[in-house]
Amino acid sequence: MLKSLFASAACALLLVSTSAHGAQPGSPIVIKFSHVVADDTPKGHGALLFKQLVEERLEGQVQVEVYPNSTLYGDANELEALANNQVQLLAPSLAKFEQYTKQLQVFDLPFLFDDLEAVNRFQKRSKGRQLLRSMEKHDIVGLAYWHNGMKQLSATRPLRVPADAAGLNFRIQPSGVLEAQFAQIGAKTQKLPFAEVFNALKSGTVQGAENPWSNIYSKQLHQVQPYITETNHGVLDYMLVSNAKFWYGIPHRTRVELEAIIDEVTYAVNREAEALNNADRARIQASGSTQLITLNPAEREAWRAAMRPVWQQFEDQIGKDVIKAAEAVNRKQRQ
Ligand code: SIN
Repeated sequence: MLKSLFASAACALLLVSTSAHGAQPGSPIVIKFSHVVADDTPKGHGALLFKQLVEERLEGQVQVEVYPNSTLYGDANELEALANNQVQLLAPSLAKFEQYTKQLQVFDLPFLFDDLEAVNRFQKRSKGRQLLRSMEKHDIVGLAYWHNGMKQLSATRPLRVPADAAGLNFRIQPSGVLEAQFAQIGAKTQKLPFAEVFNALKSGTVQGAENPWSNIYSKQLHQVQPYITETNHGVLDYMLVSNAKFWYGIPHRTRVELEAIIDEVTYAVNREAEALNNADRARIQASGSTQLITLNPAEREAWRAAMRPVWQQFEDQIGKDVIKAAEAVNRKQRQ
């Protein structure tokens, strides 16, 4: 009797000690980090640097496997895989969390942030930090923001004024704000996973898209989009997320070390993202396969005026306080 009581207690203990982070005592915790972009992008570099630092500093305790280019999970199933602990780290674009929180839609509002520096300031201030915890009730813990960059519009025809986009079908991420943004300029939209964008543009299923330079270049989208307008109309950034049960199940000392590594990687990713995007912009220009259209201030203002009503449409969902806090980080004075 006593023996069987001991056996079930030991069994329960083993379940407790293995269930949270999935590792058997004595064997390393495995962190699968899945993402949808190429290695040579800000997020791709971040994932690889995380792996390198973890394996240097937590050798034998934590092992990191990186799966880029939607090779393990893609946009359609990666968050579900995180919930089921089939993957332990993701860094989806901030436009991909709509089903878990409406507040993160603030990042999709067109022409809200003047530049990446402004985005950075918002993410560091208290409202931005609070949003890292906005999906707690879904057991999603936000660990950091990682930059990619400002988005540019690409299409099969030159887009200089908003009316040029009317009637075109644009690929978008799964975001109501982005849908509304294109509706404002008379364009149609299709939500597609990132892995399908190149083929959809190539086949003509969609005729336009919005991406930062690094995503355009690393996926060769400029080869199938003859025009890119440098609008910088919105931001595409990421939230590094984990499953809360997994994350808080990691032994405290190990988790503290992992969080310190994440801080270091975040600093590196965010410091180099803009330079990487600028280098890819130059590569796209040098390729000669697409024409870059730059806008003068009056032309850019016309795009801003056309898309700006979207803010009001979504202010109840996002929260006026969040939008106000985001707007306040711009240094330039606006009317
Ligand atoms: C990404 O950068 O993770 C992909 C963004 C997109 O789906 O456009």
